[in-house]
Amino acid sequence: MQMLDLIRRKREGQALTPAEIEAMIQGYTAGTIPDYQMAAFLMAVYFRGLDRKETAALTRAMVASGERIDWSSIPGVKVDKHSTGGVADTTTLVLAPLVAAAGVPVVKMSGRGLGHTGGTIDKLESIPGFRVQLSREDMVRQVKEIGLAITAQTGKLAPADGKLYALRDVTATVESIPLIASSVMSKKIAAGAEAIVLDVKVGSGAFMPDLESARKLARIMVDLGREMGRRVVAVITNMDEPLGMMVGNALEVREALNVLRGGGPRELREVCLTLGSQMLLLAGAAGSNKEGRRLLENLLAGGQGLKKFQQFIAAQGGDPEVVDNPQLLPQAGEQVTVAAPAGGYISAVQARLVGEAALLLGAGRLTKESPIDLAVGIELKKRRGEYIHAGEPLAVFHVNDRTNLEAARERFLAAYTLAPEPPAPQPLVYEIIK
Ligand code: URA
Repeated sequence: MQMLDLIRRKREGQALTPAEIEAMIQGYTAGTIPDYQMAAFLMAVYFRGLDRKETAALTRAMVASGERIDWSSIPGVKVDKHSTGGVADTTTLVLAPLVAAAGVPVVKMSGRGLGHTGGTIDKLESIPGFRVQLSREDMVRQVKEIGLAITAQTGKLAPADGKLYALRDVTATVESIPLIASSVMSKKIAAGAEAIVLDVKVGSGAFMPDLESARKLARIMVDLGREMGRRVVAVITNMDEPLGMMVGNALEVREALNVLRGGGPRELREVCLTLGSQMLLLAGAAGSNKEGRRLLENLLAGGQGLKKFQQFIAAQGGDPEVVDNPQLLPQAGEQVTVAAPAGGYISAVQARLVGEAALLLGAGRLTKESPIDLAVGIELKKRRGEYIHAGEPLAVFHVNDRTNLEAARERFLAAYTLAPEPPAPQPLVYEIIK
């Protein structure tokens, strides 16, 4: 297999065989295919796509690049959830403990921030002492003990996806349906849960800009999962504006704590309840959507989700005190208010631009190696549909380094459209694909 030949053929729009894809992924994982050739291949896929057979072969090859976790020693249906990536999308930090508190084991392998979107692993790392790398044995033991474990992709689980994901992040090759589908599903299959709920984001802040492409992505992932013996449901949710009100790693942990305390933004809570009830349904812990929601609402009101979050933090070496005292999370040195330059109804908040502004403040990565600042980010003060007066605060920036502050402010303000009339409401949840 000559990598140059595969790049050329994909560039010309030809299909590759499963054996070629497997050899390529093996070579890349072993380091015999360099990043520059893989980057060229990914760009060819971005423009030419992969057919169903190639996408399934890529997914299987990425699963086979590492170990798989065997959960058979733990009774019950283990569930997992995954978002295709959004801004102020803190659903995992709420749902993992909440669903575990309902008695359903939650096992999850999560990623880091990608492009303008946040990643659960970066968010968890903002908790002092928190260990994001768990061995297979640690994962199994922890799920037996507390019903919940989240790990970063180690060198052992779907390592090919770990390498490709980091490369795609810095080569503008994230927004490709077959690449996203194989990336998400290889992680899910390797992590081993029997039931998987996928949150497919659509809108200005998502990798899928329109409903049609979100549906296509959802369908492919549900089919891939089913072919590999898993129960999978995809929920298509709105990512036109940021989901919550906090963008940035430690800030999003705070917001998740607010939701688990029974508060937090209505929109974030609502999406959590929708995804969570699907997780309970798939695991057989609820007979209907309505029953699942009621169960989760009761757990939020009773504080059991919060307690489970605390147990989870302690089990992974983090400081459980952050739950009662979020001031222990990293804090930025400075808070800078960003005021509305004019008045009017907020008719659009482009989530991607908000995510990019947070990235400019240091909350995300501009290159594969760039460090991120876990304390910085953006606290939003207004949502789409609200009225704002000129000079009123739109947001507070949490800042440590002022180098890109002006660029971030400009990018942030460009996200907002003001109008004399309120906009028509948008759905939060579009469709559920089974
Ligand atoms: N989430 C993933 O895990 N992979 C992608 O490619 C995009 C979002």
